Amino acid sequence: MHIEELATPVLVVDIDALDHNIDAMAAARPGPALRPHVKAFKSTEMARYVAGRGGHRNFCCATLREIRGMAFAGLGDDLLLANETLDAAVLATLVRRDDARITVAVDSDETVDVAVEAGADVLIDVDVGLPRCGCRPDDASRLAERARSGGVSVRGVMGYEGHVVGNPDREARTAAVAESMDLLRRAHDAVGGDVVSAGGTGTYDLHDWATEVQAGSYLLMDTAYSELDLPFTQALSVWSTVVSVSPGRWAVLDAGLKAFGMDHGNPTVDGHPVFFCSDEHTTVLPDSNGGLPAIGSKVPMTPAHVDPTVAYHETLVAVSAGNVVDRWPVDLRGW
Ligand SMILES: Cc1ncc(COP(=O)(O)O)c(C=O)c1O
Repeated sequence: MHIEELATPVLVVDIDALDHNIDAMAAARPGPALRPHVKAFKSTEMARYVAGRGGHRNFCCATLREIRGMAFAGLGDDLLLANETLDAAVLATLVRRDDARITVAVDSDETVDVAVEAGADVLIDVDVGLPRCGCRPDDASRLAERARSGGVSVRGVMGYEGHVVGNPDREARTAAVAESMDLLRRAHDAVGGDVVSAGGTGTYDLHDWATEVQAGSYLLMDTAYSELDLPFTQALSVWSTVVSVSPGRWAVLDAGLKAFGMDHGNPTVDGHPVFFCSDEHTTVLPDSNGGLPAIGSKVPMTPAHVDPTVAYHETLVAVSAGNVVDRWPVDLRGW
């Protein structure tokens, strides 16, 4: 089937671009030096593809549902819930599986106690500057001690510098990563362990001390990350159909707010300024020659933020040279 025969809106991954991204990252951070984050693509089939081509067997997850799906799919060699959970019951059922190794990030007495109750290995999650999860560096050893005395293994530390990864100024990014890693190093000196987990797509090559980087967006990419000078290429698009044209004024595409994560801005359309997005529509303006796409034509749109965009869709359609070659369910979406 040709891409233009697909019902729209439809989430499309260009396999050749994806292969390029997998290869570029695997060359820089081979095997366990990268722990791909499944939150960016939410598909066990795609995770299997990334593991097969990139050679990475350890994955990051953001939700217990992602952990469960990956374990059930036979991709549970070493799964990190790089996020806090208070659900000891569900965590315990996953930890009891003998085909999956599960480690969970903890940053408080409460989350340590959940890990102890579930019997999960932990990483001490440290606040390295992103105002989100993570304990103060000087509280890390106390939490590690609490976990160890509860009988679970402390594998090391995690510190996600999410406030840095999107900064388009490489020098500023480099300096900010160094500051964040100073904080993480302080915590690691006190906690110990073999694992130092940090980073994302924008900082994947700025880490010389972390043992693994948690990037996910590099696989599919978005217009926010394309502002950085990264060796990854746009592999994801949402294809739409032109459903209405006001000649000389605008054309209306059938993919809008419900097809795109919009927190990083509007999607883009080659050649046509985006006027605005509404629930089911995006209105685009004429190109520099005054032209508009014809009614019924198919138009690829590029999302500004990959993770929430993927989470709106049920299937990733894999295409090569314009032809559909596979369909990967987005089976890890939801909670
Ligand atoms: C905990 C954590 N680690 C790593 C990442 C890196 O992801 P990306 O590849 O989008 O930079 C994210 C993204 O939000 C995250 O939440």
